[in-house]
Amino acid sequence: MLKTIAVLTGGGDCPGLNPAIKSVTQKALSMGLKVIGIRSGWQGLIDDLNPLHLDAKSVHHIDREGGTILQSSRTNPFKMKDGPNAVIKRMHDLNIDALVAIGGEDTLGVAHRLYCDFKVPVVGIPKTIDGDLSATDYCLGFESAVTVVTESIDRLRSTAQSHERSFVVEVMGRHAGHLALKSGISAGADMILIPEYPFDLDQVVKLIIARKNNTHPYSMIVIAEGARPAGSDISVTSKTTDSFGHIRLGGAGFHLSEYIENHAHIDCRPLILGHLQRGGSPSAFDRRMGHHFGIVACEALVAGKFGTMASLSEGRITLKSLSEAVKELHVVDTKKYYDTELYQAKSSLLS
Ligand code: F6P
Repeated sequence: MLKTIAVLTGGGDCPGLNPAIKSVTQKALSMGLKVIGIRSGWQGLIDDLNPLHLDAKSVHHIDREGGTILQSSRTNPFKMKDGPNAVIKRMHDLNIDALVAIGGEDTLGVAHRLYCDFKVPVVGIPKTIDGDLSATDYCLGFESAVTVVTESIDRLRSTAQSHERSFVVEVMGRHAGHLALKSGISAGADMILIPEYPFDLDQVVKLIIARKNNTHPYSMIVIAEGARPAGSDISVTSKTTDSFGHIRLGGAGFHLSEYIENHAHIDCRPLILGHLQRGGSPSAFDRRMGHHFGIVACEALVAGKFGTMASLSEGRITLKSLSEAVKELHVVDTKKYYDTELYQAKSSLLS
């Protein structure tokens, strides 16, 4: 029987983590369990970082706050000598019977391997503004990020209109275009460029000139950080990789904006939204999903359903296996959702 559970948040922070921490804590307490908050993701189970004892009071307000009260890191125990054993020992020393890991493909990839190779009793909660985990239709943080991008583009339109100036807005998402596509739709962007479909620079210029000639004084273009022109490399700001092998992306918007100015001969500026997309209070949807996912994760732990992940699937909150969640990156289905000529969301959805 479980007595004490722990919860950790790994990978990039985002709105929705605190509501999930609160929900896990409240649900676990209601089932008579003790709850320990592990600091800084997997790092907190490798180093002797002081854990937090979570109670009703310590999580009371946190669902309105962005980031994570537990802090986060991109730590990969499998890249460290004896990393997995250190995690297991620390869990044992802290009397942790089971664990909730809140994270994206990296954090949950570690959870999956710890479960498969070392039988660590763990359940996952999906979070990432990239929206690229499989086995769930929703990852915490995504809608909050879409809202930030949408509001930012609304604001940009003041200058765009006043100066008849086009903008290229670069958004995050790594190798998936979900954030670009969904926020581009929400903001009414004129063009959306995603990693799943390398774009033709001449076609972009042609579309912009056609808009201009068609009495549209400016264009608003959303580009995913992982998008690239056909035949070119992805734009990076640093070639060094993190412990999961990820390179730091960035600059795609800058290069495109420069190309547009030089070839379409219009005033065009880049805007890289960067980490603003991960900041601020969680949207109402992220609060609610954090609440639901937290409940399901605790129920799964108590039922001994380890190696699973809370999921939204076909409109229902359910459980899926971690192996399914991290098996492959969930990217945009371009056939179904992307117009590869107009660089837009598809205008027919039933066919
Ligand atoms: O995975 C979330 C994410 O925000 C990506 O969209 C982005 O490429 C990356 O994290 C940035 O990571 P960091 O905050 O470590 O620079």
